[in-house]
Amino acid sequence: MSFKWVLYSDIHGQIPQLDAVQEAVKKEEADKVVVIGDLVGLGPEPAEVIERIKGMPEIEVIIGNVDLWVTRNVWEWGEPKSPHQEWMFRMMQHTQERISKDLLEWLDKRPYSITYSPELGHDFHIFHATPYEIGDEEAFPFRLTDDEIAEKLEGYDFDIGAHGHIHGPSVRNFKKSNGKMQKLVCAAAVGMSWDGDPRPSYAVVEYHGDGKWDARVERVEFDCEKQADFNENSWIEHGERIAGMIRSGTFWNPDHMPH
Ligand SMILES: [Fe+2]
Repeated sequence: MSFKWVLYSDIHGQIPQLDAVQEAVKKEEADKVVVIGDLVGLGPEPAEVIERIKGMPEIEVIIGNVDLWVTRNVWEWGEPKSPHQEWMFRMMQHTQERISKDLLEWLDKRPYSITYSPELGHDFHIFHATPYEIGDEEAFPFRLTDDEIAEKLEGYDFDIGAHGHIHGPSVRNFKKSNGKMQKLVCAAAVGMSWDGDPRPSYAVVEYHGDGKWDARVERVEFDCEKQADFNENSWIEHGERIAGMIRSGTFWNPDHMPH
């Protein structure tokens, strides 16, 4: 048996990047498309993104930490760790004000993770940041080595995992202490990348039977300048920070790296 997934993540209210990725993934002819959370927050068109994805019921969606900040009023209970987070939490409130109750409810009901088992004993586990934490406290950032991530995944015996959240795609292969090989794919990000390449990305995972998996990530050509201008001149407080990330493919301020 074989099965092909396309995965993308961290759209963050950016419709033109979503258009570019959705156009590119058509040619993959996947059996299943999965969005790995963070549909909203940081971008000018949150309701439009939820509406688009909700209107494609063939797509599976899991929730991300920023989605939950928006649906569950983080500005009322969150303790901002920095001026950066104060700004983020205010932006989440302003984001919620632009989304209808129906769409917020739909987003809030997405699951934290999905597992596909194309054959017994061969699991593909999909989660936003880590299998045990949504991304407020824990993540698998670029700076961690494969060994460090393998250690964090002790006890998780899926063949392959996929996540988003860190805003840059990758495929890692490592050996667990039980000798089993494990793959970990980061599919992010659609809206804005932090790995130095401003192009949006998606991931492809294929199962070929008997525990054989392939994974790759693809970048999509995109007019970053035009969308950066749109963010800069939108309702977002400090839209120039979002614009900077879209233009450069890096986080706006290294002193406030979220992970
Ligand atoms: Fe996230």
